[in-house]
Amino acid sequence: MKQYNVGIIGATGMVGQRFATILENHPWFNVKVLAASERSAGKTYKDAVGDRWAMTVPMPKDMEDMIIMDADNDVEKIAGMVDFVFCAVNLTKDETKKLEEKYAKAECPVVSNNSANRHTPDVPMVIPEINADHIKVIDAQRKRLGTKRGFVAVKSNCSLQSYVPALYPLDAEFGVEDVLVCTYQAISGAGKTFDTWPEMMDNVIPYIGGEEEKSEKEPLKIWGEIKGDEIVPATKPHFTAQCLRVAVTDGHMAAVFVRFKNKPSKEQILEKWEQFSGRAQELELPSAPKQFIYYFAEDNLPQTKLQRNLEGGMAISCGRLREDTQYDYKFVCLSHNTLRGAAGGAVLLAELLCAEGYMD
Ligand SMILES: NC(=O)c1ccc[n+]([C@@H]2O[C@H](COP(=O)([O-])OP(=O)(O)OC[C@H]3O[C@@H](n4cnc5c(N)ncnc54)[C@H](OP(=O)(O)O)[C@@H]3O)[C@@H](O)[C@H]2O)c1
Repeated sequence: MKQYNVGIIGATGMVGQRFATILENHPWFNVKVLAASERSAGKTYKDAVGDRWAMTVPMPKDMEDMIIMDADNDVEKIAGMVDFVFCAVNLTKDETKKLEEKYAKAECPVVSNNSANRHTPDVPMVIPEINADHIKVIDAQRKRLGTKRGFVAVKSNCSLQSYVPALYPLDAEFGVEDVLVCTYQAISGAGKTFDTWPEMMDNVIPYIGGEEEKSEKEPLKIWGEIKGDEIVPATKPHFTAQCLRVAVTDGHMAAVFVRFKNKPSKEQILEKWEQFSGRAQELELPSAPKQFIYYFAEDNLPQTKLQRNLEGGMAISCGRLREDTQYDYKFVCLSHNTLRGAAGGAVLLAELLCAEGYMD
């Protein structure tokens, strides 16, 4: 497979650090640029991160002394050094959109973790096992931006990366109508550790700004279809969500209640989950889990600590599937929020874009 030079914009942050560690030995991608704010620019990666390193594995040796570039002021220079960039920055929506478009217009594709462009109609928001075909809208986006290569593609919010994969394979045959979901989200989702957020020890906070709206709205774009030059979101399933922050380092759990048009049997649901695979598996992308959804029959599984790293943190774990008195079924599911839910999901999307010829 062809080799690609890549950059990490926001390399010093929580998601940026994840990118650095999972790209260290990537078979296709070679990290040539690390960039962050002007506060970090000019420093070595090691010095710029300082005591903010939040990974359980050490910083990649060959990145320690790389000099951080200025993400905002070095766009042209960076675009000349890499084939595309990953982007994870904590800027406002408008600032992020402007930054991502600046890279795209410099003919440098952007694979983004940020939410700013998730509802831009010609920006694909992709879970490669589910809606890989949405990347075709990039042609329309390039027309709008006036670019030959440059575009922005995004991955969806981390909260929904467990329950959307569990519901999607059930929809075609049984019709997913109504979904009620409560998420229990790790503190790394806020870019934090227990050292930087000690108030979270022994605590639950019943509010995560903007998260419930994302958890209800983003699945509809993933379920949507390309019409003309844009992706038109679906109008069903109907989602309602409550999102809680819990005292966990990594791993978002979701408790899901679902109503179907045609109620399946428990065995039919389990069979759909077991058989579910998508374009990512078909193309044998390096970061794709072999088995996308694992079901655990034991009553006390999945557990965040035990299952979050399944298949390199890229697989989804489900459990406790049973009938409900108000809805048809209820179950729990779990995904790693900074791997499948953030950097890993973006790397998988980049692999899809490379395999389908969008990075050439
Ligand atoms: N954490 C998660 O699990 C998760 C999951 C999905 C999506 N996301 C999204 O990913 C993005 C990053 O999240 P995070 O948790 O990694 O945040 P973070 O730890 O706060 O890191 C933010 C990064 O943005 C950089 N930055 C700040 N201002 C900048 C500027 N003016 N120009 C360029 N870079 C700038 C920071 O650089 P300095 O170090 O120089 O300040 C740092 O590298 C956010 O949009 C977040 O919503 C996060």
